[in-house]
Amino acid sequence: MDGKALWSGRFAEGMDESTLWFTSSLDVDSALAFYDIMGSLAHARMLGACGIVPAEDARMMVDGLKGILALLEKEELEVDGDLEDIHTNIEVTLTRMIGPAGGRLHTGRSRNDQVATDFRMYLRDASLEAVAAVDSLIRGLIDVAREHRTTILPGFTHLQHAQPVTLAHHMLAHASRLQRDADRFMDAVARMDRCPLGAAALAGTTYPIDRMMTAAALGFAGPTENSIDTVSSRDNVAELAFCAAMTAVDLSSLCEELVLWSSQEFGFIEMDDRYTTGSSIMPQKKNPDIAELIRGRSGSVIGGLVSMLVMMKGLPLSYNRDLQEDKRPVMDALNTVTDAAGILAKVVATAAYRTDRMLEVTEEGFINATDLADHLVTKGVPFREAHGIVGEAVRHCIAAGKRLEELTLAEFNSFGGDGAVIGEEVYALLTVESCVARRDSYGGTSPASADTQIAAASERLEARDEAVARMMREIESCWQELVG
Ligand code: ARG
Repeated sequence: MDGKALWSGRFAEGMDESTLWFTSSLDVDSALAFYDIMGSLAHARMLGACGIVPAEDARMMVDGLKGILALLEKEELEVDGDLEDIHTNIEVTLTRMIGPAGGRLHTGRSRNDQVATDFRMYLRDASLEAVAAVDSLIRGLIDVAREHRTTILPGFTHLQHAQPVTLAHHMLAHASRLQRDADRFMDAVARMDRCPLGAAALAGTTYPIDRMMTAAALGFAGPTENSIDTVSSRDNVAELAFCAAMTAVDLSSLCEELVLWSSQEFGFIEMDDRYTTGSSIMPQKKNPDIAELIRGRSGSVIGGLVSMLVMMKGLPLSYNRDLQEDKRPVMDALNTVTDAAGILAKVVATAAYRTDRMLEVTEEGFINATDLADHLVTKGVPFREAHGIVGEAVRHCIAAGKRLEELTLAEFNSFGGDGAVIGEEVYALLTVESCVARRDSYGGTSPASADTQIAAASERLEARDEAVARMMREIESCWQELVG
């Protein structure tokens, strides 16, 4: 069938070739084919059950749609470029297969509610996959933390040595961000758990449709409330674009560190050969390209969010064709984040962590200066005064080419002019091991705190993994039932 002839009644002349290719969404919405078939199966079954179409026609439509699904699964579904989108393609294929009964499929339905439904189902699956990938990375970070509860490295602020921290604490910081990213996806998925099907073009329909039935059949908690809102809103898409963008930013930040850490200057990690690349000219090179590409691709993911928001801004109610542009940016963003998190999990899990080097560099930068000030506070010196005294001590050390822990007791007590308060105990307190172990405030960097964090992070991860697996099973059983 000629696509131009589909809605031909209104037109004296067919569409120009250029109009067709310009308006076609096939290249993007072909990815929705599976969901379109499922949505159509639910709709056809409902039309039959509600007596809106003859039972025999409903049966033929269901059988035909199952046949189309089989073709899709065998990658034999032919998509006709003369038909502007996947929805039209499937409807036309059905009519070709079963004859005029196929012409009843679109009763009480519009492509406006249809595409919103298809895309929600696509996004639900894609989001759960993104969560699973992010979770694999979180699991990798927790494993590193478990292994490095007492590995000490400089903690940085302004990329300057600040205070010593454990590698566990550092990796758990990244894991904390990613936990929120994963939870944010889950929240967004829960918020869009309403089925658009049945909103029709914009105002609902005159047929006695059962929206509860189609919503349940497609695995939604219920139908959407307002038909105009349903066909015109894409905040669910924008929200997922944000979820993806935030995740990409967090991945990029982790990647930036992996790049820095694998440099000669830092030397904190060596990435596994399998996840690095060589240079075409410099034989010695081992480059952290994966991390760099993830950092680089965050740009297009952020761009996806911007595209969505700008596309939506200023649209009058209800459906406008602008909305067709909602798919590519978010599909791409979700794919990018899922791939990136999945491969980064392997990078993190297989990297060699150079603990000697990490410890060695803590000797630079007076990383224990706060601990010396804190010690003075225990001797009754107000913190602000202690800060000044230690600042003087650091200045003295720089001039003398010494580290704080190399000062004599006489030197220690020569600053601030308040008499001798510092004794031998200071040397033990200034070791980085002591600096770390004594930061046992809730959420601090002590190994004991790492244990608490690891337990909590694992619990949160497992709970989410179970929720994802349960949702995937529920969705799968909806599909089973629809094709059963
Ligand atoms: N391709 C459209 C989209 O993605 C769906 C079709 C709705 N088209 C229309 N002219 N009402 O939004």
